[in-house]
Amino acid sequence: MHTCASVTEKVFWLGTNDRKTARFENYLPLPNGVTYNSYLIKDTKTCLIDTVEFSNTSNFLEKISEILEGRALDYVVVNHMEPDHSGALHELIKYHPEVKVIGNATTLKMIKAFYHDFDASSFVTVKEGDILDLGEHRLTFVPVPMLHWPESMVTYDLTEKILFSNDAFGGFGTLDGGIFDDEVNFSFFENEMRRYYANIVGKYGNQVTNAITKLEKLEIKYICPSHGIVWRKNLEEVIGLYSKLGKFIPQSEGVVIVYGTLYGNTAKMADVLARALSKEGITEVKVYDASQTDASFIISDIWKYKGLILGSAAHNNTVYPKLEPILSKILNYGLKNRYVGIFGNKLWSGGGVRGIQAVTDQLNGIEIIGEPIEAVGAPTEEDYLKLEALAKEIAAKLKSERKECLACDNS
Ligand code: FEO
Repeated sequence: MHTCASVTEKVFWLGTNDRKTARFENYLPLPNGVTYNSYLIKDTKTCLIDTVEFSNTSNFLEKISEILEGRALDYVVVNHMEPDHSGALHELIKYHPEVKVIGNATTLKMIKAFYHDFDASSFVTVKEGDILDLGEHRLTFVPVPMLHWPESMVTYDLTEKILFSNDAFGGFGTLDGGIFDDEVNFSFFENEMRRYYANIVGKYGNQVTNAITKLEKLEIKYICPSHGIVWRKNLEEVIGLYSKLGKFIPQSEGVVIVYGTLYGNTAKMADVLARALSKEGITEVKVYDASQTDASFIISDIWKYKGLILGSAAHNNTVYPKLEPILSKILNYGLKNRYVGIFGNKLWSGGGVRGIQAVTDQLNGIEIIGEPIEAVGAPTEEDYLKLEALAKEIAAKLKSERKECLACDNS
């Protein structure tokens, strides 16, 4: 019996469940772990698709030996050189010196940058449309530059219609038994896919859209990403979700309220906003204290919902420190298609609200709703009325889109 799962009769999942690493890329929390997925095709020729992160090398090499049963490893395709997938490549080559390494011209530059002793004569350069014939299986390659590194590509098996999709369609979370989307809690993996996307890939929406346009032309029966579950049932749904993410289209009409507070006055304002939204019929309202929830989860919800309300107390003439990573990411990634409200608190010269505005003023694709509301010390009755008015205005915007959608359905 193999300890590796089969995707199809001759394609094996050699993923590693990493439950030890606390933070992905050393900053994104992994409360549910992560997998590094590699796949082995055992045909007339044998071919590995990607490797795993370095600290999982030993276990990975054992799995390869188990499947190969004494046969040589003919090829390893490097879809992506980020070390969570290429970390074991150096050791793999030492263990299987016969292996030919497949990648594009940029891949080779990166391999040489990471591994100075890499023997380039073992490298086979491929470009879009080239075919690698393994016997029964025929692989072709599609570059997807900047999804999310310059050398990124995906590999497509023309025979069994399998897309080895690299980081695309991948997410956090270990595979605790089930490896296919129809064997697990789909919504958990959908959420962890969005958190991966929003925090890692989200800057490259245009490139994602271009890649989806290319991939939509392929008949796909399986999507085998480099992280998380293998998609074989909800293919249309997951491709649709990815397409929306790439275009910064929210999944839901809800609102994220995120604030930074020192002594609670900004938090009080957030609660008033949330209650007012709820009274207006907005059922999905997420209130986050930026000091309590890791930014990666908040950013994931910002990518999910259409409404965003940012609040900050003044702190040394600028925004509250724990709000900064969120503002920095939405600016760096160029958030679009959102209704945004702003509020905050000051006692003398302020800086919280001003700091938020310094970011939102640079985001051309968002719509600022109303005027920023900045309380001085404890919010007054007038402040609360202004907050209710802001919530009503945002709710009205959201509900008007609901009506537009109903009109679409009825047409
Ligand atoms: Fe999963 Fe971009 O590495």
